[in-house]
This record gives sequence, structure tokens and C-alpha cells, in this order.
Amino acid sequence: MNRSLRTHEVGVDHERVDGWAKVTGTGPYAYEQPVSQPSYLHPVQSTVARGRVTEVDARAATALSRVLTVLTPFNAPRLQHGHDAELEVLQSDEVWFRGQIVAAVVAETPEVARQAADLVRVQYRTSPHDVILSVDRDDLYKPESVNPNHPTDSLAGDPDAAFDDAARAVEATYTTAMTHNNPLEPHTTVAVWHGDDATATLTVYDSTQGVHTIGEAIATMFGLTPDRVRVVAPYVGGGFGSKGRPHPHEILTVLAAQRLKGRPVKFAVTRQQMFSFVGYRTPTIQRMRLAADVDGRLTGISNDIVELTARYKEFAEQTGIPTRTMYAATNRRTTHRLAALDVPVPSWMRAPGECPGMFAPEVAMDELAEACGVDPIELRIRNEPETDPDTGKPYSSRNFVACLREGARRFGWADRPPLARSRRDGDWWVGTGVAGSTYPVLRRPGASAASVRYDGDGRYVVSIGAADLGTGAWTALTQIAADALTVPFSDIDMRIGDTGLPPATVAGGSSGTTNWGSAIVAAARRFREKYGDDPDAGDEYTAAATDDGHTERFAMHAYGAQFAEVLVNVDTGEIRVPRLLGVFAIGRVINPRTARSQLVGGMTMGLSMALHEKSVLDERFGFVVNHDLAEYHIPTCADVPSVEAHWITEHDPYVNPMGSKGIGEIGIVGTAAAIANAVHHATGVRVREVPITNDAVLLTSHQ
Ligand code: MOS
Repeated sequence: MNRSLRTHEVGVDHERVDGWAKVTGTGPYAYEQPVSQPSYLHPVQSTVARGRVTEVDARAATALSRVLTVLTPFNAPRLQHGHDAELEVLQSDEVWFRGQIVAAVVAETPEVARQAADLVRVQYRTSPHDVILSVDRDDLYKPESVNPNHPTDSLAGDPDAAFDDAARAVEATYTTAMTHNNPLEPHTTVAVWHGDDATATLTVYDSTQGVHTIGEAIATMFGLTPDRVRVVAPYVGGGFGSKGRPHPHEILTVLAAQRLKGRPVKFAVTRQQMFSFVGYRTPTIQRMRLAADVDGRLTGISNDIVELTARYKEFAEQTGIPTRTMYAATNRRTTHRLAALDVPVPSWMRAPGECPGMFAPEVAMDELAEACGVDPIELRIRNEPETDPDTGKPYSSRNFVACLREGARRFGWADRPPLARSRRDGDWWVGTGVAGSTYPVLRRPGASAASVRYDGDGRYVVSIGAADLGTGAWTALTQIAADALTVPFSDIDMRIGDTGLPPATVAGGSSGTTNWGSAIVAAARRFREKYGDDPDAGDEYTAAATDDGHTERFAMHAYGAQFAEVLVNVDTGEIRVPRLLGVFAIGRVINPRTARSQLVGGMTMGLSMALHEKSVLDERFGFVVNHDLAEYHIPTCADVPSVEAHWITEHDPYVNPMGSKGIGEIGIVGTAAAIANAVHHATGVRVREVPITNDAVLLTSHQ
């Protein structure tokens, strides 16, 4: 067991420590960091999806006044090769996807850079491209592992035999769309080289989920020791995973600044460019089978998944993971197969794996409930495992059933008519649905460190290179530090977002609070052991959390139950979601205000996945045509009248000293399935594809 943190400030709904700076505009985002004599970069993107660049004619661009340089594959400084193909920007003439950066203009104003980029003429030798994802392709392949390093396939027992012998069964194909992260703040990078080539150091202001992650990537690509690269990112306007890994824009900005020998370069990626080179969620095709006895007790469960990756770099989304671990069944199988296409490489988007990977199973469970004549909540309770079905380990805590029961009570599930298509209110069919959520507690003990310094006058400076994307991490860490040092919240000066601070893991996998908070608690305890409760100004201690071995002994997951009410117009098929309600088991909540915001945000993004978001890949040209917020739809306030997030009381002494579980991603997991199940309950139409569009329910809903 961890020595648990005594809590005084943890659990209080403190306002965000960065709130004032953000709303008054005094907290600088990366692009706003003041640098002397900035220049501005605008990229030129490939207009073909596959081929080679044969010529770049920059004469008209360089003829414009105030243009400083044009970088091309033929003149760009060389990077280190063989580490990450995605980051080898302007290193070869090869075109891997439409929208790839094939040149870049740097000018004294952003307007001139953009104008000049338009004047750059690029010639290609074009090859036929292939961007069609299909289960019928004969070149689907099995990756060596799936993100981040899970086994590609899993097998226990004989799920096909279980299916053949089943009293009740469901077999269907479910699909989720390609989707793109659209944080409020687009990606931006500012690069400043200091000094001459041999001893030059570099400062990068970047909109990122991990300063150390980006710093290491830049150091690797430029052949520098990491101590020569400083990355700064105190304020970040969202990321959802798209800023969790380095992308070409960061490398390109540094490359341009290197070319300009000391003049700072700023690159603000446009909204449209975000659809080309900062990652996205792969579409998934999931062949799902459930086998059960007459009472709905699962005997077999399988999910065979096909998704896409890029030809130049592999990313394999771990979509089968929730099928491995959510419900008890003796016979289980998951597989992942990929099509390598002429597209940008997919990457992280809020709950990679769990999010698309809970859509198929949770709609299938609704179908099984119908086939068995069992209430969907009762069906899930009947299939609750004693231990983790995948690993056999006991759970550190598992309170999925409590979430279902508490959610049913709050939502008013008892009044629900059991049959679909049985409630109509004027022009609207009315339905409700439920689905489960799960997300792992990811831990990397020792990978983050924190320092505690006493500055005198009752002030403690606590430092860690963590990132607050808008999640509230800065505030939550201040609360943890206060309790770890047993001082009031207001005595803590929390510093984050700088590689000059102790190393921190990336703000990804809902793991920030676990990893950084554990480091802060470790550092604070060592500080007190060494200096006592009455330290001298300047006393300082830096420490990392030690490995308690609990990851080896326990399966650790957060859970949730999501409830949706939908209205479906009998004439137009328009779908509205007047109500979403989620109840989560997420350990101890550090800050109810910011936690609620994370959960509500996740659920809203889940609604968006269910009804709005779809990147439309035009197969003729090989790119996403709806690459802006006019055509790529995300919900507005009018689409989301009521989203309620609640949590149960949960004590988990094993996850970390705070007893907290990650909350950044679980809110999006299962939401789309709850809405799809509610659409079925309203209309009787089973939709196995998201986003759900009017036409999917229209033909049969009008009677
Ligand atoms: Mo999250 S997609 O792990 O940043």
C-alpha cells in the first residue's frame, strides 16, 4: 500500500491558479512569447498524395520584399536520419501524403510568408495513390504491437466454438470515423538559437503536452545533447493527444531558425494545416462477436479490428484493449490488422484505443440485452468479472457496478419502457441508452521528478516540467504539493512547463496527476525528512517516486456508466441529445471543479463523436476535404443542453499516494455507444456506425 496523503487542500474546488492570467491575456501562449526580431514561417504543402518532388521554383517568392528564405527538400539543413520518419521534414524528395510539407517560406511578417508560400511552384513526378481502407484488402498486415506496446492479438479458449454453441449471440460490424483533434489553440512553435554553431543552444516555445518529450525529439533530430535544448510551455490551449508527440512543425521551425543563424522563427499552424500533419484518429472497422447463455452470461467475446496507418511510419491504435478486459468470458479473442496507406500517420486522440474500442462492445452488449430480454444494466452486472480477464490480476478497485446503479438512480432508468420505439412526444421519438466506460491507470514511477525549495517567509517553490493543457493540472499539483508539505495552498508557488525544471512524463494517457503528483509527494516527504518543518531559506530537495510494485500485482482501471437521452425527429431523422449523465469511479478527486470540467468535456467530445465528427477523406485526391471548422463539425452549446458528471466515493490505496485515477480521457469512452443505444431505443433502428447521421435513422423512423 502507498503511504496515503493526508488531505486538506486535496478535494477542495480551488479556482485555477492560471485562470486570471488566461482570462486577462497576460499568460503567454507559445506564439505570444516575446522574442526580438521574430520572423514567420509558412509551409508549402504537397498537392499530390504520392510521388516525388522534381523541382521547387522559389524565384517569385524570394523576389518579394521581406522574404528571408525558402527552404526546400534540396537546400534544407540535414537532420539525423533513422529515428522518426515523421520528423524528417524536407529531408527527401519523396511525397508520402497530400498535405505533406514540401517547402517553407520564412519572412518578416506572417502575411508576406503566406503570400510568398503561394508563389512557390512545386513540380512532382506523381505515382498512383491508395487511401482506401477496407477489410477486403489483401495487404492487411499484423503490426508487432499496438500503441503503446500491447500485444497485437489476444486469445483465450475458443471464441468461435463458443459462438457456434451459444444460446444467444450477436455478430456485427461496427465502424468509427476518422477524426481530427481540434484544440482551441492550434499548434505553434517559436525557435530561438543562441550563439554560433559549435556551442549553440536553443530555446523553443511550443504548444505541447510535454516539454521534455519535445526537447528530446529536437535534440535527437538535430544531433544535440538534450541540455542544449530548452523547451518552454507554461500555457497551452488544449491538445487531446495531438500535442503529446512531436510533429514536423516543431522540427521545421527549428530548422528554419538554424538557417537564419540566430533570428527567431515563429510558426503558427493554421486550422486547415492541422488536418495534415499533427495526427488524427484512425477510422476503425470492428467485427464483434458475443456469445452468451440464455440469461446473457457471456461465454465468448471477440473483436477483430481493421484500421489504417501510414506507409512511412506505423501507428497502430489499440482498439481491442477494452474487449480484453471489460467483461468476464472464458473464450476471448482480439486482433488488430492494418492497411498502410498514402495518408499522414495517425496518432493519439483522446483515449486512443479505449474510445473507439468501447463503441463496438457497448453497442453489441445492448444488442445482446435485447436478444436475451434482459435489461442492459442487469446484463452488464451479470458479466462483471472477479479478476481482470486479461491478466488474471485482482483489481486495485473496480466499481463499475456502483456507477451503473448510481447512474440508473440519478438518470431515472427505472421508468424506462423496455421496448424500443415505444415513446413518442409530438414529432419526436424518445429513447434512452446506457454504456460502460473504462480507462487504465497508467503509471511510470521514477520517470518524473520534482523539486521542493523553501524560499523563506513561508513560501515553497515546487517545480516539475509538467504541462497543463487546460486540464487544471497546475492547480491540482499545487493542492497535492500543499498537502504533501502540510502547508496551505497559498504557500505554494508551483512551476511547470519548462525543461529547466525536473523531468516529467508527457501529459497523456490520463497519467499526469498520477506520475507528477507521486513525484511531488516523494520530493516533499524527502524534503521534510531532511529539513524538518522549519527549513532555512534555500533548502531544496529533488526526488522521483520509487516503484512500489503495484502495477505488477494489480489491474488498475477507472470506470464509468454513461446515460443518454435522445430525441429523433419522425420526419427529418434529426437527432438531439437533451441529456447526458455520467457516473464515474475515478478514485479520489483532487479538485471537483477542474475534474468535472474534464469529465463534462470528455462526454461532450463523445457526443461529438456520436453525431458530428467525421474527417471526409476524398479518395480521388487523397486528402481530408472538410478541413476547417465550417465543415468539420464539433458541437456548440446548443447541441449540448445538459451534461452531468458525477462520481462515487472510491478509495484505492494502490494507485498512488493521492488515491486518484486519471480523468482526462474516461469521459469520452462509451458516450457514443450510449447515444447509439438510445437512438435504437427511440427508433428501433440499430446504427453501428458513428457519426450517426439523419439518413441512417430516417427511412425507418417515419411511421
Ligand atoms: Mo491523450 S490522447 O493520451 O493526450
